[in-house]
Amino acid sequence: MQNHPKLTAPKKLIDEEALQNRINKMGKELTEAFSKRHLTVIAISNGATIFVADLIRQIDLPMQLDSITAYSYTGTESSGKVKMLSKLKLEIKDRNVLLVDDILDTGRTMKKIVDFLHTLKPASVETCVLLDKPSRRLIEIEADYVGFEVPDLFVVGYGLDYNEYYRNLPYVGELT
Ligand code: IMP
Ligand code: MG
Repeated sequence: MQNHPKLTAPKKLIDEEALQNRINKMGKELTEAFSKRHLTVIAISNGATIFVADLIRQIDLPMQLDSITAYSYTGTESSGKVKMLSKLKLEIKDRNVLLVDDILDTGRTMKKIVDFLHTLKPASVETCVLLDKPSRRLIEIEADYVGFEVPDLFVVGYGLDYNEYYRNLPYVGELT
């Protein structure tokens, strides 16, 4: 039998109510934005899984969901290399894609996946992130939809991890 690891409790930054309020608003905005266009949502797994689950339930339109797996972090350091592990199941040629991630940090992950998606000839690619850390950007890229801007802190919870832990926290907290 294995014991649970001892994890330090993160400092709460964005609580559950603030998350749900903001995500409800984003869902309404997206419903409006895609009201006349067929929508394919692509979540960047694993980080975006919790966010996308709540977000798409606030989008009142027929839509399809797929995911792509990518990672660049080990611990609290960006490795600088983005690895893409899985490809899409859906055909996105001529589709309107909304790419969803947990956080836009250096921008490498988003850029790499946006570039990959464009090779599949979609009609459009827009991006949506729960959190944006603009002070860390190394690549010129902005998200079209942003939940919250955060300062340069390492944050966990609500899908964001530290070595795969903390994803199940219902709030976003700072790991100190
Ligand atoms: P980027 O490629 O540097 O923009 O990093 C984006 C990815 O790094 C995200 O998909 C996250 O998984 C991860 N990441 C960046 N900042 C944090 C953080 O503060 N906490 C947890 N994961 C992070
Ligand atoms: Mg991630």
